Amino acid sequence: MILLDNVVKYYPGDKEPALDHVSLSIKPKEFVFLVGKSGAGKSTLIKMLTREEKPTSGKIMVGGIDYDYLKKRHIPHLRRRLGVVFQDYKLLPNRTVHENVAFALEIVGVSNSEIKRTVPKVLELVGLADKGHKFPAELSGGERQRVAIARSMARQPKILIADEPTGNLDPETSWGIVRLLEEINNFGTTILITTHDEQIVNQLRKRVITIRNGKMIGDQKNDGHYDLDAIRTRIVKRPLATAKHTAPTADEIRRATNSRPITAQGAVRPTPRRRVI
Ligand SMILES: Nc1ncnc2c1ncn2[C@@H]1O[C@H](COP(=O)(O)OP(=O)(O)O)[C@@H](O)[C@H]1O
Ligand SMILES: [Mg+2]
Repeated sequence: MILLDNVVKYYPGDKEPALDHVSLSIKPKEFVFLVGKSGAGKSTLIKMLTREEKPTSGKIMVGGIDYDYLKKRHIPHLRRRLGVVFQDYKLLPNRTVHENVAFALEIVGVSNSEIKRTVPKVLELVGLADKGHKFPAELSGGERQRVAIARSMARQPKILIADEPTGNLDPETSWGIVRLLEEINNFGTTILITTHDEQIVNQLRKRVITIRNGKMIGDQKNDGHYDLDAIRTRIVKRPLATAKHTAPTADEIRRATNSRPITAQGAVRPTPRRRVI
């Protein structure tokens, strides 16, 4: 569950808020598009959830964690529970595909034997089973984004957040990424994607939240379409459709990755950190 209650965000020195009393809730297993023009506040909203930025006022809860009570030392743990994917992939250039995914597990203390088992399975999930030995520079944009998705899914997050994941990709490749995210959603992972891609939003007809100038101006719970002037809520004729749940979330992903759940207490023991690059 993602919950924002009257969230306001002013960046230092700004007269206008980047987020202006935004309230929304997203249930487990939903697939949600967050749309809005450049500068509308989409990335700021994402940064509220990843705690990259703090709200000026308002309440945020994610997966039962109340951010008012979130201590600094809990933040890495929170980020483990949220998978995050960016427009520019943010891969480690001097590491292979396999190592990029492995690193995400290493830093949260997953054992080497488990990493060896998990990485190939996650790469298979994203259709890159045969690319583990390649470096990011040797991959296409779509493949790089698949690595980023594999990396974020390796830790079996309940929620996957993607900030313009198709922003650098051509339409066909974008569709491949969106279909992959749909598949991950079908396993039970909540998906929140920010996008500019009108065609994808209109074809998928998922829930669509629209923001303009930091204000949430639309929340089409069902059959949503890309409309930057959307009125607040369209009439919902059907019950809230989340996804075709073919399997329960954690189990399915766990089976796909053959790894242990990460508990609130952090059941996995940390291994010594390695230097990046
Ligand atoms: N780190 C920052 N410092 C100051 N202002 C920022 C920062 N990040 C974003 N903003 C401002 O907040 C507003 C919303 O930006 P952003 O959330 O990046 O929008 P979007 O992702 O929808 O393009 C913009 O006016 C932008 O200039
Ligand atoms: Mg942005």
